[in-house]
Amino acid sequence: MGNQAKLLFFAGSTRSASFNKKLARLGATIASSDGIDATFVDLADYDMPLYNGDLELDSGQPENAKRLKKLFEQHNGIMIACPEYNSSITPLLKNTLDWVSRIRENDGTAKVFKTRVFLLVSASSGGTGGLRGLHSVRPVLELGLGALVLPDQFMLPRANTAFAEDGSLNDTDAQERLRTAIRKLAHTASVLDAAGVFPR
Ligand SMILES: Cc1cc2nc3c(=O)[nH]c(=O)nc-3n(C[C@H](O)[C@H](O)[C@H](O)COP(=O)(O)O)c2cc1C
Repeated sequence: MGNQAKLLFFAGSTRSASFNKKLARLGATIASSDGIDATFVDLADYDMPLYNGDLELDSGQPENAKRLKKLFEQHNGIMIACPEYNSSITPLLKNTLDWVSRIRENDGTAKVFKTRVFLLVSASSGGTGGLRGLHSVRPVLELGLGALVLPDQFMLPRANTAFAEDGSLNDTDAQERLRTAIRKLAHTASVLDAAGVFPR
């Protein structure tokens, strides 16, 4: 992958008008405008059944989980925009991470999570911007999957009125805070990748 940052952006929602998809798309646009290689992906294009051990035993992991894992591997930094459902992670995001985590390397680990850097952001029409949902996503990645998650987070409250027509944020200070977090993700990903500290 070289020393360059390659960032992947996606949301834990497939809703067509999803605020978190808008935020993930904006993240990719901001990164591109900073000269960073950026990809936005919609989980609607990676549909997976609800995880079931019997299904896995009979049919293995879904092709879409394998495709998504390959996409993860092609990027060294991943920003996830996480909706908050009842103060927690969405079933879609948990199910997606669970399936990808079941695709093991020869050494039996789900190395793909341990070999890149993650940034968590959220958007909600509520006043806290989905912060409590992030408190559930972080331990899944850090404790469950051994991922390095930046301490920086970005929350977008009142997301129903926060986006301009062109997809940018009406609050330019907020957009600059998002840009700063994305730059940190890119910098951390490229430095750690170049330093060879991620297990190969
Ligand atoms: C089952 C369910 C539970 C929700 N719980 C919360 C919540 O705890 N806090 C919150 O701010 N919003 C909550 N919401 C509202 C979501 O944040 C809102 O629907 C948001 O737009 C979802 O993200 P999306 O726009 O990316 O699809 C909930 C929505 C659903 C469907």
